[in-house]
Amino acid sequence: MEEAGQAGRLNESKEKISMQMENRREFIFRFGVIAPLLVAGCGVRGTAQTSVLKLLKANAVSEQLEWNGAKDVPDTVSWRSVLPQSPGAERMIISGTVFESDRKTVAPEVLIYFYHTDAEGYYGRNGEPRHGRFRGWLLTGKDGRYEIETIRPAAYPSRRAAAHIHMTVTTLKEKEHWIDEIQFEGDPLISESYRRKTEGRGRFNPIVKLLKGTDGIWRGAVDIAL
Ligand SMILES: [Fe+2]
Repeated sequence: MEEAGQAGRLNESKEKISMQMENRREFIFRFGVIAPLLVAGCGVRGTAQTSVLKLLKANAVSEQLEWNGAKDVPDTVSWRSVLPQSPGAERMIISGTVFESDRKTVAPEVLIYFYHTDAEGYYGRNGEPRHGRFRGWLLTGKDGRYEIETIRPAAYPSRRAAAHIHMTVTTLKEKEHWIDEIQFEGDPLISESYRRKTEGRGRFNPIVKLLKGTDGIWRGAVDIAL
């Protein structure tokens, strides 16, 4: 019985050693073979993005005007931008696809700069950048998609204009320019002239309908045509 017990313990420890070696081989394979490949892949993507951003920056408006911001694009940009939360503010996600002017062909490598007021209707306060904390950059990928996760902005304290998100686009072919601002359906401050200007555009209408999810986040979709 004792011999059988010893043989069982021996087999058990052999199995343990074998499993450890297997795990070690797997570790070496994962980190010795797969990880460098992943790093190399990111490096290629990073280099490609750096070249695209350099070309796009050449099309940014270089002067500091009231409305532009592509020139300040950071070195790394995603198709999605997540801005910080602000006390008492509601979260909001705006997403869509950027198309060429034919409204059918998706537009990759488009740099979007956006900015909006805070939950009290102000842009930059003391010591903050010109357009405040609520600004960001997006770079569309092959599918032309973009997404902004931010807070829901408020109208200016004067309430002379509807709440809005300003956006500029910069492409490899066109210099940075302003596009129609995003406004929010149901806002009593939306002007009749803006409604007339944007009506009939379907998913391209910048007056976006927001729906609040069970998670408390407002979501809306608007496509952009270059
Ligand atoms: Fe504004």
